[in-house]
Amino acid sequence: MKGLIALAATLASWAQAVAAEEGMDGAALYQQNCASCHGTELQGQPDWRSLGPDGRLPAPPHDATGHTWHHGDDILFRITRDGTAAVVGGGYESDMPGFGDSLRDAEIRAILDYIKSTWPERERAYQRERTQQE
Ligand code: HEC
Repeated sequence: MKGLIALAATLASWAQAVAAEEGMDGAALYQQNCASCHGTELQGQPDWRSLGPDGRLPAPPHDATGHTWHHGDDILFRITRDGTAAVVGGGYESDMPGFGDSLRDAEIRAILDYIKSTWPERERAYQRERTQQE
């Protein structure tokens, strides 16, 4: 009996570890949730600096050519969880949705970690500084 309980406990913690690992695959989560707008290569939408006909901005790249690295961790997290309109406020309209209902906090962090992992050291260092100043 003791052996069975130990086995059950081992299986349960193994299942948890697998689930955690799956949830933590930032690159896969990025492709599932973000790539449709921000691009499979993080390249963003064409002409992303110009407002579209509806007066809203296209999705910017998340690679080093964009400005995601200009923002500290907290603001990046809040934009992803709550959406740009909620973070900017004042009636600002944006096509960047909030993912708070569909992604766990840890999944959002894993995606942002994946995005950061693609930046060269200069951008990473700048972003770390911004995070410290937040
Ligand atoms: C439906 C299209 C769409 C999807 C899907 C989407 N985004 Fe966005 N995202 C946008 C748009 C459009 C903007 C620019 C919004 C603005 O500035 O008004 C943006 C902006 C952002 C910004 C701010 C970047 C900056 O430099 O200011 C972050 C961070 C971001 N998105 C993260 C994500 C993440 C992470 C995901 C996936 C979990 C995601 N987005 C999925 C459309 C999308």
